[in-house]
Amino acid sequence: MNIRYEILDKSLQRKLPKTDKPLPFGQLRTNHMFVMNYKDGAWVDPRIVPYGPFELMPGAMCLHYGQTIFEGAKAFIHDNGEIYLFRYDKNCNRLNHSARNLCMPEIPESFQMEAALRLIDIERDWCPDMPESSLYIRPFMFATQDSLGVKPASEYIYCVMLSPAGPYYPGGFSRAVRLLISKKYHRAVSGGTGTSKCGGNYAASLQAQQYAKDRGCDQVLYLDAGNEFLEEVGTMNHYHVEKDGTFVIPTFNDSILKSVPSQSALELASLGIIKARQEDIRLDDFLLKLKSGEIIEAGGFGTAAVVSPVGSYALEDGSEYTVGNGEVGEHTRNFYAYYTGLQLGKTQAPEGWVVKVPRY
Ligand code: COI
Repeated sequence: MNIRYEILDKSLQRKLPKTDKPLPFGQLRTNHMFVMNYKDGAWVDPRIVPYGPFELMPGAMCLHYGQTIFEGAKAFIHDNGEIYLFRYDKNCNRLNHSARNLCMPEIPESFQMEAALRLIDIERDWCPDMPESSLYIRPFMFATQDSLGVKPASEYIYCVMLSPAGPYYPGGFSRAVRLLISKKYHRAVSGGTGTSKCGGNYAASLQAQQYAKDRGCDQVLYLDAGNEFLEEVGTMNHYHVEKDGTFVIPTFNDSILKSVPSQSALELASLGIIKARQEDIRLDDFLLKLKSGEIIEAGGFGTAAVVSPVGSYALEDGSEYTVGNGEVGEHTRNFYAYYTGLQLGKTQAPEGWVVKVPRY
């Protein structure tokens, strides 16, 4: 890829703030971003430019009809001082899945990979070397064509921005959250955009999130539209742990977004490293097993938080179910420690999971 570089003068470049406190999640920005336009059926003018506003017409179709997709991934500094992307190929692949789902143009995965590697290479001083921190990578694509007809746009921008980040939940892992099992709100339906990382899915979740907060819960456990099966938790995949330590994740159907940590858990299981499987999980069975103690832990798998343990579930009828003793369990802790060990290069990751950022 022939990338054009427009690098800020050193004297104008900001630096990663020096602090002992955990960095906030999603607030900080680096000096540059990667941008590319889609026009006349082709991706053109790939460039690394100073981080700053886009020029957008008021009729840009993303603002009206929501053709916007994004990804979230992380890069880490290892002990050898080099930066490594973690499973970014999965994100490139999923971005194209979302693109197809929303009638947007795909981008060759090798292009997406190179864009991130080259951007991180010039922003390497921004990769935090602190506990529970990473350089969060946010690629996204949106429709820019100025038109009010409802149809797939013919023009788009693809951008990659970076955000040095601390833990998603400040103090996060120490607290197991309370989930509201909602029969009123649904995240997605079969045949819709549930398998995609598109803005509309997140906009639609805000009302449900507020509803959960109003009822003293941290997040929503979504059911399928028929209110029979478990689907997702907030922005994450749900899991529970059985007595023998097996992680059970709802089957990836056509309304569930595949998170990278849950795909990884299943791959680690196929390598015999942990025990994990997928199945359709009926709400009724789930509640019975919570009550009988057959389910000992539960939580969410997502890139931002990695793991978010669940301590209890509330239902809209006022009933309440505690998971185990309501605290963070050992299998959840062990998974978190193992997975973050892979990300940080403390434990050898399976072939292809980490990619070193070259010094171009
Ligand atoms: C994730 O953890 O994968 C998410 O989707 C959260 C992100 C939207 C901040």
